[in-house]
Amino acid sequence: MENLMEKIVSLAKRRGFIYPGSEIYGGLGGTWDYGPAGVELKNNIKREWWRTFVQLRDDVVGIDAAILMNPKVWEASGHLESFTDPLVECKVCHERLRADHEDEIKEHEKRHQPRIDRIETGPKEKDFWTEPQKFNLMVEASLGVIEGKKQTVYLRGEITQGVHVNFKNVLDSTRIKIPFGIAQVGKAFRNEITPGNFTFRSREFEQFEIQYYIKPDEKEGKKWFEYWKNEVINWYLSLGIKKENLRFRDHTPDERAHYAKDACDLEYNSPFGGWKEFQGIHHRADWDLSRHSKFSSEKLTYTDPETKKEFTPWDIESSGGVDRATLFFLIDAYEEEKLEKDETRVVLRLHPKLAPYKVAVFPLLANKQELINAAKKIYDDLKIEFMTAWDDRGNIGKRYRAQDEVGTPYCVTIDFESLEDNAVTVRDRDSMKQERIAISELKNYLKNELQKTNTR
Ligand code: GAP
Repeated sequence: MENLMEKIVSLAKRRGFIYPGSEIYGGLGGTWDYGPAGVELKNNIKREWWRTFVQLRDDVVGIDAAILMNPKVWEASGHLESFTDPLVECKVCHERLRADHEDEIKEHEKRHQPRIDRIETGPKEKDFWTEPQKFNLMVEASLGVIEGKKQTVYLRGEITQGVHVNFKNVLDSTRIKIPFGIAQVGKAFRNEITPGNFTFRSREFEQFEIQYYIKPDEKEGKKWFEYWKNEVINWYLSLGIKKENLRFRDHTPDERAHYAKDACDLEYNSPFGGWKEFQGIHHRADWDLSRHSKFSSEKLTYTDPETKKEFTPWDIESSGGVDRATLFFLIDAYEEEKLEKDETRVVLRLHPKLAPYKVAVFPLLANKQELINAAKKIYDDLKIEFMTAWDDRGNIGKRYRAQDEVGTPYCVTIDFESLEDNAVTVRDRDSMKQERIAISELKNYLKNELQKTNTR
């Protein structure tokens, strides 16, 4: 679909999903704010993730660690030394780009081509860019109140380390036994050289991760690596992402992060340059626990309760980006449907579990108090159970279109007949079919319909 990204960005702004960060001050590169619909969508994604991977499992527990950590954490984890991207600088305009982002490099060179051609002795392709330099991605902050005595700290570059440094705390305070996982959802920060593609590469973003601790054994490592690949892709499929838009891609040894023994990305077939990574499975082995043990002098081992054998567990990590997942759920759900008379409707076919609002309530007319009163009563009742929207502007057709664009599965209209027959019209987002439902049955009807998992 042409210009799909422009349409998504425009819809996101128009309908209150995502706005540029600090917009009234001209923005701040790589930051985004979620609006009323966006925060609901993102919270629903996080809630479903937590429900699947923590609430419904006996082998995973959750934590919520601080964003600011002792700087030694980042020395131990290797981030201060190795969390770098190769950076090149354009000799014509001095813009800096990732040396490994070939598409962006080519695009940039095209922009300068007329000028390069004109400068006879000017930069040829090979010396158009500076030699790649390493650029650390950690975002610095300073703590303390007295100038000159402030301590440099880092905003976490990944949420992972908060889990590893609490490995012993979790072991000591729960009954969990290996194999087990520790899950966390939270913000991470990276000084990305070229943020872009809407929220895809941001400088502030959210991650959801599970560090899954296993016995240090090659066979076990392979088994759990495959296991987590399946768990993760099935979760996305269960929430309606189209199968043909997902694929796994193994990392080549030279592209693996400094901590990874093996790595595989789950990619989405995006409208901005095709397959893009949004979730990774990493075999981190004992990298983190061993390094933290060495740097902190704390013993971070596990003793098997049966064999009494003591060992440093390996970690199979499943790490996803909440913002990238949100973006891909939005893109995947976007449809332009041809209607009669050359009309087109835009509809977000979001899974009902993810839809920001489950139901919208409309009084047929905004200037008839008896309709408003009856509709308000229904709205007040429904909002106890579901995230419910209210709309009394414009005509019913326009209200339907607005709710379609936010992905609201059901719209309920209260008309003059409702005052007589105690029934309302319920309209289905996907089929656009309308049904008359008794007000006394409405809550149950919506509950049943919303529980159906497949909306397509
Ligand atoms: N703990 C492992 C780790 O952080 P990663 O592949 O660097 O691994 C995990 O990041 C996920 O975080 C990615 O799959 C992606 O979804 C998300 N992510 C990483 N950098 C991002 C950025 N600049 N903007 C938005 N999301 C990002």
